Amino acid sequence: MSKFMEWVDARFPATKMWEDHLSKYYAPKNFNFLYFFGSLALLVLVNQIVTGVWLTMSFTPSAEEAFASVEYIMRDVEYGWILRYLHSTGASAFFIVVYLHMFRGLLYGSYQKPRELVWIFGMLIYLALMAEAFMGYLLPWGQMSYWGAQVIISLFGAIPVIGADLTQWIRGDYLISGITLNRFFALHVIALPIVILGLVVLHILALHEVGSNNPDGVDIKKKKDENGIPLDGIPFHPYYTVKDIAGVVVFLFVFCAVVFFFPEMGGYFLEKPNFEQANAFKTPEHIAPVWYFTPFYAILRAIPDKLLGVIAMGAAIAVLFVLPWLDRSPVRSMRYKGWLSKVWLLVFCISFVILGVLGVLAPTPGRTLLSQVCTFLYFAYFILMPFYTRLEKTKPVPERVTG
Ligand code: HEM
Repeated sequence: MSKFMEWVDARFPATKMWEDHLSKYYAPKNFNFLYFFGSLALLVLVNQIVTGVWLTMSFTPSAEEAFASVEYIMRDVEYGWILRYLHSTGASAFFIVVYLHMFRGLLYGSYQKPRELVWIFGMLIYLALMAEAFMGYLLPWGQMSYWGAQVIISLFGAIPVIGADLTQWIRGDYLISGITLNRFFALHVIALPIVILGLVVLHILALHEVGSNNPDGVDIKKKKDENGIPLDGIPFHPYYTVKDIAGVVVFLFVFCAVVFFFPEMGGYFLEKPNFEQANAFKTPEHIAPVWYFTPFYAILRAIPDKLLGVIAMGAAIAVLFVLPWLDRSPVRSMRYKGWLSKVWLLVFCISFVILGVLGVLAPTPGRTLLSQVCTFLYFAYFILMPFYTRLEKTKPVPERVTG
């Protein structure tokens, strides 16, 4: 084996890569469970790609056959039902995992210097993931696939001057048709997965260049032993590869329970109107996007003007990109920030969840008012951040990581 590796290493940096990214990548020793979600996101990504490839083998991307081909996968293709449920549940799991992964970043200031690019690559992944999920949702050609896409694509129509042409260009037709389905299929199965994979590589390369943050936000590279190894660092392999397996087991337990017992999740993972084939002449009673988009959908609806609503929805995502420059705190982790930062993060998370719930429900005057309040708080968290992070009194950060 060693002779073989010598041969390989003389031609390709296999051992070097193994060492740089695993056996000699020193990660802080105080990672907690919130650090499982990066590797879990990788796991779900692999699940989506593998099940997606197998689904593609039996799926027909045409307006006439798409819906029936999904039913064919569910009923006639051997193990087709499990492939589909793994993929559809995987889509929701992806967003749950990524939202917790992002929350960890907010909590421990992982976006702060020198990890700004890690965060920006992460945000680009998040954008690509939203596009991937949106396009994938049209493919089964159910009523919600059709009308959900209709609502979202028509939003581009609010853009002055080019709006009408732009919506037609996206659809490739005067209405959502088999042409739209076909291009969404191409983007969903080829273009976007390549973009996401490439971004994940950049995300991890950027992280490994600067090293991982940790729940204390302490820079472990400041205290090294005589060999240049951080005193608070442990090799990623075997320590975290083994620890991450524990996270994977718990995750798979919950994930499989959903796949086998609640794949529709009461209409939240697979929406009820989507069990009926797309019909351009019949609008479903209540159109709502899948749960992971609903906070942004609620922001859109909170604003009475369509164009301003679209701008607010875009701004809600765009503002996350500049987060590293909004946080002016001298400390990273919430453990050492002042109470203002803690309260604002809490307010932000609660507003985000309430917006998510409101985005699923049909609007009423009371709900619209609540969504306006939550939209205001969502933006206030970011806009006020440069002020409260500078004003508040922080606690002293320890020299070395704690516990
Ligand atoms: C497909 C989606 C993603 C994958 C596979 C992924 C993967 C990873 C992995 C493996 C790590 C290292 C382990 C860890 O710290 O948990 C990591 C760290 C990180 N990720 Fe992601 N990530 C994804 C999406 C995102 C998104 C959407 C964001 C934020 C916008 C983000 C922000 C970060 C940050 C800030 C870190 C460094 C955390 C720290 O050192 O404290 N990631 N990611």
